[in-house]
Amino acid sequence: MPHIVFVAPHFLENTTRYASAFAQLEGVKLSLISEDPDRAIPAELKQRIAGHHQVRSVSDPTQLVLALTGLSRRVGPVDRLTGALEQLQMPMAEARQRADVPGMRPDIARRFRDKDLMKQVLRRAGVPVAASQLVPSLDALRAFIDSVGYPVIVKPQAGVGSRATHRIESEGDLAALVQLGLEPTPQRPLQAEQFIRAREFTCETVSIHGKAVWRSGTRYFPTPLEVLEKPWVQYCVLLPREVEAPWTDFAAINGAALEALFGDKPQVTGTALTHMEWFLADGPKMYVNEVGARPPGVQIMPMMGLTHGVDMISKWAELISFDRFTPLERKWAAGAAFFRGQGPGDTVVEVRGLEEAVAKVGSALVELRAPKVGQPKGSGYEGEGTALVKHATTEGVKQALLTLIETVQVRYG
Ligand SMILES: Nc1ncnc2c1ncn2[C@@H]1O[C@H](COP(=O)(O)OP(=O)(O)O)[C@@H](O)[C@H]1O
Ligand SMILES: [Mg+2]
Repeated sequence: MPHIVFVAPHFLENTTRYASAFAQLEGVKLSLISEDPDRAIPAELKQRIAGHHQVRSVSDPTQLVLALTGLSRRVGPVDRLTGALEQLQMPMAEARQRADVPGMRPDIARRFRDKDLMKQVLRRAGVPVAASQLVPSLDALRAFIDSVGYPVIVKPQAGVGSRATHRIESEGDLAALVQLGLEPTPQRPLQAEQFIRAREFTCETVSIHGKAVWRSGTRYFPTPLEVLEKPWVQYCVLLPREVEAPWTDFAAINGAALEALFGDKPQVTGTALTHMEWFLADGPKMYVNEVGARPPGVQIMPMMGLTHGVDMISKWAELISFDRFTPLERKWAAGAAFFRGQGPGDTVVEVRGLEEAVAKVGSALVELRAPKVGQPKGSGYEGEGTALVKHATTEGVKQALLTLIETVQVRYG
């Protein structure tokens, strides 16, 4: 019976769902590593675990190794060390290496975490990516702009959730970047990239021992950059009913990119659900933007579940625990709408149109987390509330999403 160790800083709702998916798997022994104490583990989950080890910081590989040592003594040798959060991927890889637990090692995990290294590996493998460079100074950034021209994108080397991503279109934007205190330095270099004007998509891939066995994909409306630049824009993600172009056209590029990233020992490192973001520009030309070796956010996991009639989190748990995945057939279209407020202020003071939207969308609405008056302004592009919809047709989902974002209005004050 494999012994799986799942890492999560705190037992928040989402993390608990991921941990519970492992706990409910037949034939798995589950242990947990967390910053939260034992008493914070929800009762139902606690009944089903074989062990728990509390650490001060889940980001510290040394503490993870100590926890692994303790758990393997009390529960048995550890077969997998896993966790869903992007920020855990490097520390877990480091701990696997030191504690000799099978799975992705730091050299490979870094390719998924470090945007500069990722693009270098992809470029070397002939995978289309934007021209990019890690710049350690303003002069180097200027030289990069001279070579590719405006506009360029700058972002942190190991970013997540579009934080601190900026489009630079002019000398004035460069000055603004400096004023924001984001000037690149040798200690804090910036990832600079040629700006790709494009529509933005995702490709979720299940790989076993480095071989892609199943794919799904979504489209972002509008692009995360636009969502970031225009805080009032309400945001949607669509997972269509059809398995068709442009997603199917992207499969070959996705395959080549993952093969390059997994490296020459895919039988060890290449069992994963990956979340790749990619651009479709005029031409048409496709580019890989970035890829995470972890389940996707922005409601894509529940959307994949709805469209394929499964619990995707439990499918992921099964993949990680047993290197096993049965390809899924798509039966529905699904979408997510993210409600974001307008106006100055940092608290929600008014939510309009909810009842009307719910009535209009009818049975397509699967889940609604309504924004509430008094709620603090959300950080990042997920906003203050979410609606999940499902329909037999892609058009039905598009209509429902449009109705939701046009009818629901959130105001800050
Ligand atoms: N080279 C680029 N060209 C155009 N848009 C980009 C580029 N790089 C990033 N973006 C925009 O910025 C967003 C965030 O960048 P991304 O590389 O995905 O970082 P993060 O890890 O923060 O998600 C992307 O979803 C995309 O909209
Ligand atoms: Mg991204």
